Amino acid sequence: MPKKTTISLIKCDVGSLAGHHVVPKPLFNVAEKNLKRAAEKGLINNFLVFNAGDDLELLMLHEKGEQNIEIHELAWNTFREAADKALELKLYGAGQDLLKNAFVGNVCGMGPGVAEMEIDERASDPVVVFAADKTSAGSFNYPLFRMFADPMNTAGLVIDPNMTGGFKFEVVDTVENKSIILKCPEEMYELLALIGTVGRYAISRIWRAADNLICAASSVSKLSLIAGKYVGKDDPVMITRAQHGLPAVGELLAPFMHSYFVQGWMRGSHWGPLMPVGLKASKCTAFDGPPRIVALGFQVSNGKIACDSDGVPLVADLFDDPAFALARREAMHNACMLRRMGEFEPARLGSEEMEYTTIQQVLAKLGERFKPVKE
Ligand code: 13P
Ligand code: 13P
Ligand code: MG
Ligand code: MG
Repeated sequence: MPKKTTISLIKCDVGSLAGHHVVPKPLFNVAEKNLKRAAEKGLINNFLVFNAGDDLELLMLHEKGEQNIEIHELAWNTFREAADKALELKLYGAGQDLLKNAFVGNVCGMGPGVAEMEIDERASDPVVVFAADKTSAGSFNYPLFRMFADPMNTAGLVIDPNMTGGFKFEVVDTVENKSIILKCPEEMYELLALIGTVGRYAISRIWRAADNLICAASSVSKLSLIAGKYVGKDDPVMITRAQHGLPAVGELLAPFMHSYFVQGWMRGSHWGPLMPVGLKASKCTAFDGPPRIVALGFQVSNGKIACDSDGVPLVADLFDDPAFALARREAMHNACMLRRMGEFEPARLGSEEMEYTTIQQVLAKLGERFKPVKE
């Protein structure tokens, strides 16, 4: 039996240069050093360190399976060390997402976000990973629906006989901590009934229905629900597989030809347009945004990200492309429109979502000054 390959994408905000906008070089250096050492020891096969705004992203390929203690410990210790570096430099929000003090076997529920997928490598296995900043898990519901369930986005659902059997979606209810699996196209309306509520439901995994081939995995943690208070948004990551009976890479990217609105942005308390950007623009500036997403494409090859002859991973920065210039323009147009509305809904999140932000303290202060309205 050939060994299975695991793709682990684990992320954490451990501190940013100048506010919440970007991961600075010294933190990259810590991550590169630790993952290089882990690769030399044979714990992981190879890796890529990148950033989505102020989130440090560790992409690791290995053969240890999902939720592996050694891999999670490597990520945790790397984030800890990077957070120490951030503290030393007095970076902003040093250690922001490290909600627990000691590692207890798995980073899930401890602050970092995790998307993992164990796969039997196909003859050629194209993968696209997505990472977003200034938003949260449910923000991937819309593009994942379009990629794997919407025939108007993914031509393969109509014209590739290997896809016409549809896909199965696991949806997590992040409030009640339970999940359900729904099959499309048969249960498309039920799926939409749930995942349209992006603040509560999040698609966590997708399989091809015909053979249960895993084809998408995303992080679904809600930091506020772990910490019991606002501690930043849950800037999500996801892994998707493409081609040969799955959506083509171009079909995975097509939902981002237009911008759409997500929860997050300034103080995690606003609706904002998601902007697809290349790595060089992966920094959140205007009103701490607008929320941004990067997409990196690579081939999984014998347990690794396929490399050049020097061992450097071959990675395509997929949104670094004029094809997404229109979406970026739309995003800025809509960003300006929303900002003109200041703190008025719908620019600001609705009251239910604001429960998890610092506005509660402001309202509590006013509480006893409210008087009954006389009839
Ligand atoms: P595959 O069926 O080989 O994935 O090719 C589809 C295609 O041509 C995408 O543009
Ligand atoms: P992050 O969750 O990306 O740290 O953002 C926090 C914030 O409040 C931005 O305004
Ligand atoms: Mg931050
Ligand atoms: Mg962030």
